[in-house]
Amino acid sequence: MKILVTGAAGFIGFHICKKLIFSDIEVIGLDNVNDYYDVDLKLSRLNELQKIAKLKQINFEFYKVDLIDFHKIGSIFCKSRETNSKISHVIHLAAQAGVRYSLENPTAYIDSNLVGFFNIIEQSKLNKVEHFYYASSSSVYGGNNKLPFEEKDNVDKPISLYAATKKSNELLAHTYSHLFNMPTTGLRFFTVYGPWGRPDMALFKFTRAILNNEPIRVFNQGKMLRDFTFIDDVIQSIFSLLMKNSLDKDLNSKNKPRNSNKFTPYKIFNIGNSKPTKLNDYIIAIENNLGKKAQVILDDMQPGDVEATFADTNLLQKYINFKPNTSIEDGIKKFINWYLEYHYN
Ligand SMILES: NC(=O)c1ccc[n+]([C@@H]2O[C@H](COP(=O)([O-])OP(=O)(O)OC[C@H]3O[C@@H](n4cnc5c(N)ncnc54)[C@H](O)[C@@H]3O)[C@@H](O)[C@H]2O)c1
Repeated sequence: MKILVTGAAGFIGFHICKKLIFSDIEVIGLDNVNDYYDVDLKLSRLNELQKIAKLKQINFEFYKVDLIDFHKIGSIFCKSRETNSKISHVIHLAAQAGVRYSLENPTAYIDSNLVGFFNIIEQSKLNKVEHFYYASSSSVYGGNNKLPFEEKDNVDKPISLYAATKKSNELLAHTYSHLFNMPTTGLRFFTVYGPWGRPDMALFKFTRAILNNEPIRVFNQGKMLRDFTFIDDVIQSIFSLLMKNSLDKDLNSKNKPRNSNKFTPYKIFNIGNSKPTKLNDYIIAIENNLGKKAQVILDDMQPGDVEATFADTNLLQKYINFKPNTSIEDGIKKFINWYLEYHYN
C-alpha cells in the first residue's frame, strides 16, 4: 500500500499522515501550503511528519504542488511508478475549507474544490488507484431540519458555496465509481477539532482570545448546536475504513462488470460524534480548562451557517465497528495542552 495524501500540511491531513507513518505505510504528501491561515503552523506540521518518518525509518516524500496543476499531479504518480511502487490509494483532503470565507473569496473554492477535485480524481483514474477517499462535509445537509443527519437524506439544497462544492465532489465521485469502476469513499466530517487544529475554527480562536484577554464573537447568541468530533476519532474512522476496504473482495475484484447499475463501488459515511453540543457549553468547557472566563460578544447568525449539525453514525458503526465517542471535556483538554505546549514552550 502506498498512499498519496493531499492536504498533508493541513489539520486532518497531518494527522492521517502521522497515523499511516506510524503504521509503517508509505505516504506521499501533497499540499500547496497556502496562506489561508498561519503558514508556520503548516510548516511545523510537515516538520513533525519528517521527524516521525525519520524515527520510523520510513520515507515521507512531500510535494508542494497546487491541485490546479493537472500535469504536476500526474508527474507525482509517474515518479512513484518509476520507483516500482505505484500509488495504490489516494486520500484527498486538500480543499479550501470554511463556510464564511466562501462569501469573501468564492474563486478559491471553485479553483481548489471543483477544478482541483476534478484534477486529482481524473489522475487517480488514469493511474488506476485502487481506492479514492475524499473529504466531504456535514455542510452538505444544508438547512435540513430532520435530525440526526443520515447519509440517505436528501442533500440537494446546499446553503453555502463551500457546501455546494462538497456536494459536487460527491456527484463527481459517484460518476467515476460508476463509469470507471473506481471505488470511492466520501467522508462527511462534522466540525473536527483537536491538537494541531485550524486557527480559523472556534476552538483555536476562542482559546487564543481568552488567553490574550480579547473578546470573542459568538454567533447565533451561542445557541448553535455542533456535533464536535475529536481528531483521533476521525483518524481511527478513516484508518479502519482503509483497512476494511482493502480486505473487501467484491470491491477489489478486477472482474466487476463495467457501467453496471447493480454495483457501483461508491460509499459515503458521516464521521461525527453523534452528540451535538451547544456552542455556549463548548465555551464553558474551554473556560474550565483555561481557568479563565471569556469576554463574550453575542452576535447574529452568519449567512451560510446552519443552526444545528448532528451525525447519525449507524452506517459507519455497522461497517467498521467503531464510532467517534470522545467527550468534549477530554477533547478540549487535549487541545489546550497542545496549544500551551506549542505556543509557550
Ligand atoms: N476540519 C473540519 O472540521 C472539517 C469539516 C468538514 C470537512 N472538512 C474537510 O476536510 C478536509 C481537510 O480539512 P482541514 O480541517 O484539515 O483543513 P486545512 O485547511 O487544515 O487543510 C487543507 C489543506 O489543503 C491545502 N490546500 C488547499 N487548497 C489547495 C490546493 N489548491 N492545492 C494543494 N493544496 C491545497 C491547504 O494548504 C491545507 O493545508 C477539507 O477538504 C475540508 O473541507 C473539514
